[in-house]
Amino acid sequence: MPDLEQMTAETKEHGKESTRYFLRFTSKQRYFHAVLFTTFLGLAATGLTMRFSDSIWARAVARAVGGFGAIIFFHKACAVVLTIAFLVHVKGVLSRGLVHRERGIFWGPTSMVANGKDLKDLFEHVRWFLGLGPRPQFDRYAYWEKFDYWAVFWGMVVIGFSGYAMWFAPFFAKFLPGWALNAVLVIHSDEGLLAILFIFSIHFVNTHLRPDSFPMDMVIFTGVESEEEFKAKRPLEYERLAREGKLEQRLAEAPGRFQINFSRVVGYAAIAIGLTLLALTLAAYFD
Ligand code: HEM
Repeated sequence: MPDLEQMTAETKEHGKESTRYFLRFTSKQRYFHAVLFTTFLGLAATGLTMRFSDSIWARAVARAVGGFGAIIFFHKACAVVLTIAFLVHVKGVLSRGLVHRERGIFWGPTSMVANGKDLKDLFEHVRWFLGLGPRPQFDRYAYWEKFDYWAVFWGMVVIGFSGYAMWFAPFFAKFLPGWALNAVLVIHSDEGLLAILFIFSIHFVNTHLRPDSFPMDMVIFTGVESEEEFKAKRPLEYERLAREGKLEQRLAEAPGRFQINFSRVVGYAAIAIGLTLLALTLAAYFD
């Protein structure tokens, strides 16, 4: 099994192109991620403009789009689209697991649910960072990918509930005490800020800016990865599929030139917007 650094170095040195590509994300998953990141960027940009409404840049952004009323309108529009996408996702997972009894949704190597191996991988990874042991081997989802998933999932519940409580305050006031309605603003605002800082720093570094993937991991846009990349990044999944005779079922076409260029433009734009928002947040926060 090739080591990841070795693979990357070989590919770079000899211009060696893999001939086989494997599907990692279906088109449905990629569209879902596209809706997720575009609405999140919209919510982050508008949310930060509201939160730091005193800062020079926030006032300039608001003026450019027609005032803070327009900012709130865009925030709510993105929130509705994201909520629909989230509910469709939850319904899909529940129906695959509970109605169609699909195996591996709630437990095992293909599940997003954390297990003992994830904890072990985390410790082994720290040991490897410190040069004290070998690099851990991952299956379909590594522990940090599961963490990212649950951070967004949990964040959606908290931010969504508090957002709708502010939006429809007279309705929520029927069964929530007054102090709770004040608290939801603090919860929404701080949890929103936490989500923005998390996605634009930890998620970006973990996924795109780490040495294996730098400057960007395109698999979420193209859906496919080369055999070398697959073997090196997720050796346990590769071996498991080979053992079960399912590897060939995952074979896919190499991404076309247009698809690669389009993915690059969209991906770099998203990263650039995210990093700009991160810089503006830090600037406004420490101002
Ligand atoms: C279902 C999702 C969401 C809903 C329904 C929602 C709704 C709202 C509403 C109604 C407001 C108050 C607007 C006003 O002042 O009238 C608000 C503010 C805000 N939202 Fe959201 N939002 C959602 C998601 C998000 C997300 C994902 C983020 C972060 C990425 C976010 C960040 C913020 C921030 C920072 C504020 C400003 C709070 C302040 O003034 O301190 N929101 N949101």
